[in-house]
Amino acid sequence: MRTQHASAERGGERGLHHSRSIVREVFASTSLTQRFILSPASRHNRSGERAAIDQPCPAARRLSAETLSMDDEEVKRRTPPLVAAVTAQGVAAAFLFLATTFWPQGLEAPFLLVFAQGLLAAAVSAAQHAPRWWWLIHALFPMAIYGALQLPIDPVWYLIAFIFTLAIFWRTDVSRVPLFLSNKPTAEALLQLLPAHAAQIIDLGCGDGGLLRHLARARPDCRFVGIEHAPLTWAWAALASRKQPNLSIRRGDFWRESLAPYALVYAFLSPEPMPRLIAHARKTMTDGSLLVSNSFMAPGAEPEAVIDVDDRRQTRLYCYRMLGLGRGKVPA
Ligand SMILES: C[S@@+](CC[C@H](N)C(=O)[O-])C[C@H]1O[C@@H](n2cnc3c(N)ncnc32)[C@H](O)[C@@H]1O
Repeated sequence: MRTQHASAERGGERGLHHSRSIVREVFASTSLTQRFILSPASRHNRSGERAAIDQPCPAARRLSAETLSMDDEEVKRRTPPLVAAVTAQGVAAAFLFLATTFWPQGLEAPFLLVFAQGLLAAAVSAAQHAPRWWWLIHALFPMAIYGALQLPIDPVWYLIAFIFTLAIFWRTDVSRVPLFLSNKPTAEALLQLLPAHAAQIIDLGCGDGGLLRHLARARPDCRFVGIEHAPLTWAWAALASRKQPNLSIRRGDFWRESLAPYALVYAFLSPEPMPRLIAHARKTMTDGSLLVSNSFMAPGAEPEAVIDVDDRRQTRLYCYRMLGLGRGKVPA
């Protein structure tokens, strides 16, 4: 693995010192203000926030200024994506219903209606300012339903498939975090970042728990916690990890979790929750602890290091050191 940026090297941080990392670029200043996880500029100045995300991560670059300042309250106020999606299809269906009262011949060409339903729903979705991939989903969804109804499959199988998918992906529509797993080279890179002393480590949304099992086996002196909200994924992780004494897998919502006990917090989420994640980290993590985000930058925050993992998918780990928050020391 290679460390691409490092704002400071600090004694006792075994991971960054003892890894095989190559420090390619050292951030210009090591002044205390700039070493804060969120400098005053990036915390209070919107253009500063934009400048910070205009750097390496294309996914973070797409985040709007509105999303950047999003906190827990704003998340609650947003229209739930499922409601927006049902509204788009509902408006399209109502429009077509009215249209067929004036043009009943349309009912004789059901495929045309289904096609029109998709296009109209996509247009409503665009008017809702939904991301473009939602437009495509709206356009294709009615055709997929129409196609499935033509197949000689017992409807109960659709119900079973729905429940199975729900149990694995749970509320991806709300969390905007699908299930994909960290690979072995990433686990190895993460091992290098663990503190030299015994500590607690958490994986926010631990998936099948594979990453944590790898770490827990390698560091029996540390305690590992995984939080997962999808029922089947959690059950799988808990079952597979039952013989690992220093690893506990809990079912729950990680947004309700205080991150104070953890020396290292790992997250492999998506661009969408990153503004909320960095806000949550600042609120609950302690001084000196490390937030490691796989692939997704935290907008408005300066990573202490960016580590390029030597794997096929070119994984990047963004490391944010919590400094200057005045909340005690790294828990031992
Ligand atoms: C991309 S996967 C990463 C899995 C694992 N951390 C890894 O790196 O292999 C993200 C996981 O987070 C879970 N997740 C998303 N939002 C969550 C939440 N609010 N609380 C708990 N789990 C969540 C998803 O169900 C999914 O399993």
